[in-house]
Amino acid sequence: MSFENDVEAILELKRQRNAVILAHNYQTPEIFHGVADIVGDSLALARKAIDVEADVIVLAGVHFMAETAKLLNPDKTVLIPDMGAGCSLADSITPEDVALLREAYPGVPVITYVNTSAAVKAASDICCTSGNARQVVESLGVPRVLMIPDEYLARNVARETKVEVIAWHGHCEVHELFTADDVRQLRENYPGVTVLAHPECPPEVVDEADFAGSTAVMVDFIGRQRPPRVVLLTECSMSDNVAVNHPDVEFIRPCNLCPHMKRITLGNIRAALEENRHEVTVDPEIAGPARRAVERMLAI
Ligand code: 13P
Ligand code: SF4
Repeated sequence: MSFENDVEAILELKRQRNAVILAHNYQTPEIFHGVADIVGDSLALARKAIDVEADVIVLAGVHFMAETAKLLNPDKTVLIPDMGAGCSLADSITPEDVALLREAYPGVPVITYVNTSAAVKAASDICCTSGNARQVVESLGVPRVLMIPDEYLARNVARETKVEVIAWHGHCEVHELFTADDVRQLRENYPGVTVLAHPECPPEVVDEADFAGSTAVMVDFIGRQRPPRVVLLTECSMSDNVAVNHPDVEFIRPCNLCPHMKRITLGNIRAALEENRHEVTVDPEIAGPARRAVERMLAI
């Protein structure tokens, strides 16, 4: 069967292969609204991956998300349409770095943001996402934690809890670009605008914003509060995707593109399903402890 149109081809291939597409909120609208079965933030994608009954999962997102889906579905085929879809946070730390941190801070538990390789997760005690970081910190019942690798997420969470949070020096290359000055300028140019910041933004940006939260928390905020005019300090496609469901909200759109998320296209999703590429696997020795760190988070 040959299809001119990638969307039609993907819908048919999903049926033929008993496949589902999990798409992160930063995917372009044609993927997010056109072909995805399950959409959400990193936490939702991890949670929903557990219930997938299909034989094949295509992860329209970045590599660490596909690895997490594989950890939770070891018997399913997990595909990522472009193996180069990485993440500056995941690249900022190795398992050897975690071992050195444990030597420097003996007995202090290691909380690892899901934006890391499976090998780093395996070296950790528990994972977190930007949607549950504070709950994870407080669930451990200890006075001090290491939170890796996102320095800004760790510093933002530290301000919400009495637990001492020791940070690593990784940054998201998208969110680190926003400045407090950007926010002040936006307020001047767009009177009455509600500013929502992602917690991967520097703390001084979060200070200037009205509200901070994961991408799912932003979606929820807009649905509940219906601000007349809003700016989302996060990746560009986020506003495009949310705006489809909220024609009454004016979205101001300064945004930064994630080059990794943007590697995923309708064309390579189609090729992934047609050619069964690129299959994501995790070394079994790493998969066991990495899965435990993710499952411990999901149990909270
Ligand atoms: P969330 O969708 O979990 O907020 O994560 C944002 C992000 O940068 C994912 O790569
Ligand atoms: Fe990584 Fe930032 Fe891109 Fe998310 S937006 S994948 S954290 S570089």
